[in-house]
Amino acid sequence: MKKSYEQLRSHRWFGANDMRSFGHRSRTKQMGYALEDFQGKPVIAIVNTWSDLATCHSHFRTRAEEVKRGVWQAGGFPVELPAMSVSETYMKPSPMLYRNFLAMETEELLRSQPIDGVVLMGGCDKTTPGLLMGAISMNLPSIYFPAGPMLRGNWNGKVLGSGSDVWKYWAEKKAGNISDCEWSEMEDGIARSPGHCMTMGTASTMTAIAETLGLSLPGASSIPAVDANHSRMATQCGRRVVEMVWEDLKPSDILTVESFENAITADMAIGGSTNAIIHLVALAGRAGINLDLKKFDDISQHTPMIANLRPSGEYLMEDFYYAGGLRALLSKIKDLLKLDTKTVSGETLGESLATARVTNDEVIRPPGNPVSLSGGTAVLYGNLAPDGAVIKPTAAEPRLLQHKGPAVVFADYNDLSARIDDENLMVDENSVLVLQNAGPLGGPGMPEWGMLPIPSKLLRRGIRDMVRISDARMSGTAYGACVLHVSPESFIGGPLALVRDGDLIELDVPARKLELHVSENELADRRANWKPSPPHYARGFGALYAAHVTQAHKGCDFDLLQAGPATAEPEIH
Ligand code: FES
Repeated sequence: MKKSYEQLRSHRWFGANDMRSFGHRSRTKQMGYALEDFQGKPVIAIVNTWSDLATCHSHFRTRAEEVKRGVWQAGGFPVELPAMSVSETYMKPSPMLYRNFLAMETEELLRSQPIDGVVLMGGCDKTTPGLLMGAISMNLPSIYFPAGPMLRGNWNGKVLGSGSDVWKYWAEKKAGNISDCEWSEMEDGIARSPGHCMTMGTASTMTAIAETLGLSLPGASSIPAVDANHSRMATQCGRRVVEMVWEDLKPSDILTVESFENAITADMAIGGSTNAIIHLVALAGRAGINLDLKKFDDISQHTPMIANLRPSGEYLMEDFYYAGGLRALLSKIKDLLKLDTKTVSGETLGESLATARVTNDEVIRPPGNPVSLSGGTAVLYGNLAPDGAVIKPTAAEPRLLQHKGPAVVFADYNDLSARIDDENLMVDENSVLVLQNAGPLGGPGMPEWGMLPIPSKLLRRGIRDMVRISDARMSGTAYGACVLHVSPESFIGGPLALVRDGDLIELDVPARKLELHVSENELADRRANWKPSPPHYARGFGALYAAHVTQAHKGCDFDLLQAGPATAEPEIH
């Protein structure tokens, strides 16, 4: 049943007959609006993560205007609210430190102001989960509008993919196979339009997940940022969110265990970023749903990876869009999805896939001819990761998926940087590189350091992959036999902190095993002698983060933000 005007949340600000409402109305008129522009209309927030340092969102000021156009058309009143951009490009030590900051900001922006519905504008890695976590907790009618991928990179007639080709060609440069001049030419060609990274990195993974969850309009996540269809999608989001306010269609009406299972299935079929696991656990937590890491592994084992996209495959997001995009991909694995889950469009997921079709079988493979028979992520357990660790087997050299080798341990990132290219480092291709103190608290912020560089002396010998283990994350555009998210992390005394040079480590991906072959007695001795490092922050957001962040297998959300009773609405006066 359609909501009445008096039931709008914003009515409490604009509709009452009291002194405060006089202030709210007169100050809205101060901006040049007449009463009929806003009174009685749903107030739609456009939460915009644009900034001059959010390179993936450089088109967002124009897109925000296009969203507004749709809101006006549908009889709403649009208001643009800037939010922290959390850009992957520049933030140190890691934008992951600030994902929860954006989530808090989004939730409180909406709660404290006269907002009835929201269009969330993000795309660069952490912005998707950050915006959605806040919106789920606030639970107003919400549409996620993804930034869209940038165009393919180009260098000397070769197609370049964000991140993936940076790692690849940097290794070649270190091996002496690429000149400074060629490296500089690549710099000109790898990011040549607005939009987020165009490999199947974290950004493309998370926007695909948002769409599969039902939180974006069907088809939205695959449109390249500079395609005119992207502008039209912006306007469509503006129109639709106004209808959603009247229908009172909220995230809690859309998000279910089944919609999260669909999202995990999509993640596996696209060969999504390992980061998606952390973000999905956090998103589900906000919806009051507990996602165990084992569920990811179960779904992975019976989901074929059919998106032939880098870093696990060959193509890029622009090709994916021309091949039919996410809807086409989902239509190929319908039998693995719960098709009656709801979407913001008002249709079910199944209805939204009805007209989808694949136009290029090489980019979106048939399930009978997948890129990989199982999904893109495996979850490992063992005495080195009692609460789990993850690996992306499809992006690793297959010979390393069952490997036993001696550890070469780096105490932290600075130690790694200082010694990895030392010609005297005792390391060979069978070694297992271990990085400690790179987790949620140790990094801090669990930076994307998990693709430890291959030592230069091994690069020169043609080695391009080795087993690497850390409590860090890895860029979704990265690749290699990298075991990530080891939990609990070393900074709080997890078993990773106890590894010493020369210890034998066994990785067995088919058996889902990660074992440190050191006797229990020896480990007990090391544990007794282990000393915690001092905290990184004495004050500010860093101290708040350190006091409340959860471990990787819990999604790294703040304990105080995970599902609980709804926060009360602000008082009227
Ligand atoms: Fe923004 Fe990669 S830097 S998505």
